[in-house]
Amino acid sequence: MAFINENFLKLSENYLFAEIAKRVEAYRAANPDKARHLIRCGIGDVTEPLPQAAVAALHKAADEMAARETFRGYGPESGYDFLRHAIAENDYRARGLSIDDDEIFVSDGSKCDCANFLDIVGSGNRIAIPNPVYPVYVDTNVMAGRGEVFFLEGTRENGFVPMPPDCPADLIYLCFPNNPTGAVASRPQLEAWVAYARRHNAVILFDGAYEAFIRSPGIPHSIYEIPGAESCAIEMHSFSKNGGFTGVRCGFTVVPKTVMGKTSDGKVYPFHALWKRRQSTKFNGVSYPVQRAAEALYSSEGQAQVTVLTSFYMENARLFAQALTSLGWPFSGGVDAPYLWVRVPDGRSSWDMFSHLLEDAQIVVTPGVGFGSQGEGFFRISSFNARASVEEACRRLVSLR
Ligand code: MLT
Repeated sequence: MAFINENFLKLSENYLFAEIAKRVEAYRAANPDKARHLIRCGIGDVTEPLPQAAVAALHKAADEMAARETFRGYGPESGYDFLRHAIAENDYRARGLSIDDDEIFVSDGSKCDCANFLDIVGSGNRIAIPNPVYPVYVDTNVMAGRGEVFFLEGTRENGFVPMPPDCPADLIYLCFPNNPTGAVASRPQLEAWVAYARRHNAVILFDGAYEAFIRSPGIPHSIYEIPGAESCAIEMHSFSKNGGFTGVRCGFTVVPKTVMGKTSDGKVYPFHALWKRRQSTKFNGVSYPVQRAAEALYSSEGQAQVTVLTSFYMENARLFAQALTSLGWPFSGGVDAPYLWVRVPDGRSSWDMFSHLLEDAQIVVTPGVGFGSQGEGFFRISSFNARASVEEACRRLVSLR
């Protein structure tokens, strides 16, 4: 009989959003009438159609695939040059950040990248992970069993932006704008993290999936805005939220050639070479039409449409903020991120609040504890929804008063 990876036995039975889906399904089966009015503000899945520029690029690419002269088979594993160039040029060099095209690795999303990255990380690392945070970081570390995880506590006192600990770490996960709290890190806060990483020869895995939602001036949009980050940080991005690509699947990871790791006998190697080797062995790249659609998001029409789309969801966040304020429920987020992080009233647990909102208002939210123990006593509202659903959810929330 084959041995299993016993690390999986250390995980909870279901991934957070699978657990929520299971509970919602059980509710739906038991209450089919009420469940017809469910409003889903749990998982951050987009509702609005793709930007027209992306749709046009998908159609055009599909036509190219239909003609012998322009048909494409396997593409380059790290992404087509046209997309790597568009990303490096628009997201980095246009902002004065020197990232080369070949430091961009196109993928099917940052969830996969942050999990797959553990393939090129050795064992025995001290791994610092914020709490609360996107649960994929912890779960994939448990699955891979790579090292000792310790938590960086995000609290109301530190505005959900944990600062570097006194002890050293080798690998640090940061996610800003933060999922789930919606907090953003200021320049001095990110400078402190980069200084810490450089002091300890650590690597920062920076998840910038929600960068396009930053509205406050002065907030860094990339870790590479901090001098020195190019030698200690790897940045992950997704087109899921800014371009509405959750069902299309495309993202990218920036691995500067200057970010180094070491062997157990002290030899130093660039992560770039290892990631390239990993991707070319285990991944066949993102489909050509999807990469053309992602490229189209960088055209001038595409950029304008992305702004309209992200602003639409941020207006939803404003409506939720208004409803929560009128209820007197303390919350944060919703200003530079599409998530609102709400304190559970009446001392209930996060899962109790989840059940209360599901059963009494037919609203699905995400219980804060699903993002880590520090999330107990909170719940997260996602603003990714149709306007009419958000308005109705706000009415129902306010009527709970
Ligand atoms: C979330 O709701 O936290 C996200 O949608 C999950 C994801 O992006 O994978």
